[in-house]
Amino acid sequence: MPKLLGIAGSLRAKSFNRMLLAYAAKTAPEGTTVEIFDLKPIPFFDQDVEAQGYPDAVAKLHAAVGAADGVLIVTPEYNSGIPGVLKNALDWMSRPPGKSNCAGKPVTVMSTSPGASGGIRAQVSILPVLTGMGMLPLVGAAAAVPNAGASFDVDGNLTDDRAKTVVAGQLKAFAAWIERLKR
Ligand code: FNR
Repeated sequence: MPKLLGIAGSLRAKSFNRMLLAYAAKTAPEGTTVEIFDLKPIPFFDQDVEAQGYPDAVAKLHAAVGAADGVLIVTPEYNSGIPGVLKNALDWMSRPPGKSNCAGKPVTVMSTSPGASGGIRAQVSILPVLTGMGMLPLVGAAAAVPNAGASFDVDGNLTDDRAKTVVAGQLKAFAAWIERLKR
């Protein structure tokens, strides 16, 4: 019964990646739940602020990561990498060094973009960050949904059948990955 924490790397109200995360949460396999954490209230990482104690939003993020069996990240690609909003949240999540509750936590990444590559370069560039944090990324299943403008309807529902199949496969593989790591 995996409990996932879902994080979108875009703050935009009509974000395709937020739509994709919502779709993944809605269609997660039987027994899998996805709690979505909004990164909007997370402040810029500042070691001076950290030294005075974690801000409320960061403490909530830490608690949500700690309570989850795995983390599902759905991110745009910005300039061939991940958005600063997401990297900032990952930096907070990685703290305190050596004792973060990210270490050993299963993680999987999806992306979507109006472009042809579906944000795959963001998925490549996030890998060293996640492994550097000690997270355990799922390999071999990664939904990268291209042509986002035509893949969602006006209500934000994913409509592309191929993308639906890939997302379903990744969620199933992630549940199996979490189970395998527990053994
Ligand atoms: C982009 N976009 C983009 N798309 C892409 O496929 N590769 C890229 O390298 C970039 N780079 C980029 C940089 C910046 C600063 C912005 C604002 C945008 C376009 C991007 O994929 C598009 O705006 C998406 O709609 C953003 O994701 P959300 O907000 O819809 O989830």
